[in-house]
Amino acid sequence: MRNLLDITDLTPQEINSLLSIAMDIIKSPEKYNTVCKGKKLATLFYEPSTRTRLSFSAAMMELGGNVLGFSDANASSVSKGETVADTVRVISCLADIIAMRHNKDGAPWVASQFASVPVINAGDGSHCHPTQTLADLLTVKRRKGGFDNLTVGFCGDLKYGRTVHSFTRALGRYKGIKFVFISPEELKIPNYLRQDIENKGFSYLETDSLDKHIASLDILYMTRIQKERFDDEEQYNRLKDSFILDVKKMNNGKSDMIVLHPLPRVNEIVQEVDFDPRACYFEQVLNGKYIRMALIYSLLQWRDGSNLQPVDYEVVEGGTCNNSKCISSTEQVKPLFKLMPSGKKSCFYCDELV
Ligand code: CP
Repeated sequence: MRNLLDITDLTPQEINSLLSIAMDIIKSPEKYNTVCKGKKLATLFYEPSTRTRLSFSAAMMELGGNVLGFSDANASSVSKGETVADTVRVISCLADIIAMRHNKDGAPWVASQFASVPVINAGDGSHCHPTQTLADLLTVKRRKGGFDNLTVGFCGDLKYGRTVHSFTRALGRYKGIKFVFISPEELKIPNYLRQDIENKGFSYLETDSLDKHIASLDILYMTRIQKERFDDEEQYNRLKDSFILDVKKMNNGKSDMIVLHPLPRVNEIVQEVDFDPRACYFEQVLNGKYIRMALIYSLLQWRDGSNLQPVDYEVVEGGTCNNSKCISSTEQVKPLFKLMPSGKKSCFYCDELV
């Protein structure tokens, strides 16, 4: 059985296959409108969502399947103390595939250990968001034709912005990518991701200036400062307006640069920019539905087979994760760690280096 927890669970060939299926769905949607007839998708959303939950639902409906689930954990038995493990055991009796969003880093990894149906990570804490990355990849593919040799600037909250983490990992498998990470000092990318990029030998720079670098970018990936992840409100208030993309800044970008944003936006892109043909963030939403259709359809087919992406780490037991927002801090789970070829260890659930 296959899950999608981290974007690197998919081989590059599988990502290409999903992109091709999504393109075919765009061209001939009628070919797909009954392929999931009789199947049920459960959307288990422990955290708010507009795009991801509703596009998963729309995707399953357009494949001819049905949808059940909850959009507020307080209205489910989670409010009575039910664990992730028990919840997904129950849901496995009721649905054929699960899409889970959770406020704790790593929760879908725990779900996958107890579910008997495929689990899709629909966003876990500030860790990963692989289906947003698939939407981002489809948008880049449709706008740019491919992924090699792109200079990609990520701007805003790179610490808590889970879409940044997944998209960086996805792009890290293509040739000639240059990363420009633009953030305040306090919101730089997590150490485990920096380690990943360095191990792969990619060119990257970290800066606090969008103005200095916008002219070099093929893709500008803007992000919201993630208010809900801050422990310190004063810090959030100080950082919340760090970057605001306006028409003046856009004038310094390449004519074929594209602007991505996973949304929701607060004020980091002014509304006038929406009318610039380089702004792609509403296209990303539509592409998100098509790629989720391709993903649900494929995961249900891959259930009984298909190759797993080989990993370069060994899973070892024992120890404690220091990340208080890791699912291992609240759910009784086996303490597991990834032992890298470099000798470094990171939490199996949330990737925090130990
Ligand atoms: N991009 C994204 O994850 O949006 P939602 O939080 O609305 O699902």
